[in-house]
Amino acid sequence: MERFIKVSGVWFTDSTMVMGNIAVFTSDLHGNDDQYQKLLRYASTQAIDTVILGGDLLPKNGPPNAYVQMQRDFLEHLIDELKEFKLKKPKTVVYLMPGNDDAASLQGDWDKYDGELYNNIHRKRFPLSGTPYDIIGYSFVPLTKYLLKDWEMPDVAGGFNESSLKGVRSEGLRLVSAVVNPKITIESDLDSKYMYFNSRKTIHVFHAPPVDTDLDVAKDGSHIGSKAIRDFIHSHTPYFSLHGHVHGTVARSGKFMTPVSDSCAIAAGNDDCSDKLAIITLDLYDPGLMRRKVF
Ligand SMILES: [Fe+2]
Repeated sequence: MERFIKVSGVWFTDSTMVMGNIAVFTSDLHGNDDQYQKLLRYASTQAIDTVILGGDLLPKNGPPNAYVQMQRDFLEHLIDELKEFKLKKPKTVVYLMPGNDDAASLQGDWDKYDGELYNNIHRKRFPLSGTPYDIIGYSFVPLTKYLLKDWEMPDVAGGFNESSLKGVRSEGLRLVSAVVNPKITIESDLDSKYMYFNSRKTIHVFHAPPVDTDLDVAKDGSHIGSKAIRDFIHSHTPYFSLHGHVHGTVARSGKFMTPVSDSCAIAAGNDDCSDKLAIITLDLYDPGLMRRKVF
């Protein structure tokens, strides 16, 4: 089907004007180097304009006393891979953010190449170059049973298990005991004009998925997503939203997208324990034609 676009009073067809911006999204690679290589090879050899990484990018399986150093070492390696990628594809823009397993104390290491190799989108809004759309990320997830609490908050006020407030935080290269402040919730944190400004034309990347959807099905079949994030999408109807965190949800539910109000939430459902990488590809101008690719 041919489409027509009017610019300065003149009609063009798609064949005379390039309007596409092809994006690839995935998350939860957790330091799986084979998956990174597949992703970067794919983005190098295809016409990809935008790469979006939705958190949990660094390895998580290591002893607590070497956890942050292990992540730092991998980050150094990842930065080398991204440097090589940018040499091949200087115009492709990479947007990324931490996930709940990525030590927050490595912020300074990420900052060194922020704005050069990639843009860290956690709580930061960027115009998507050459498009009318913005992108903004949000790394926090509802309280979990896991130890690292750098990126955890109660989802909404009350109703959470007090014991899940206790764990550790990264501090420099160490993990130290910590207790999450129960008074700051994801719901209150998202209630900010900066987050919801221009939502209809904003791609929101949340590490956590909306609760009670096809995107948040845990191993035991329970739903572990965020009510606050679902309510945010419901109220502010982003252009579309992208999610990670619950690795096997797509395999369990059989769906990688779900409507929320007038918006659409999408997950790659990438599993770092698999030898295959799961990605979403879509044209930012026509996201309805998105597809999930596992390779
Ligand atoms: Fe993850």
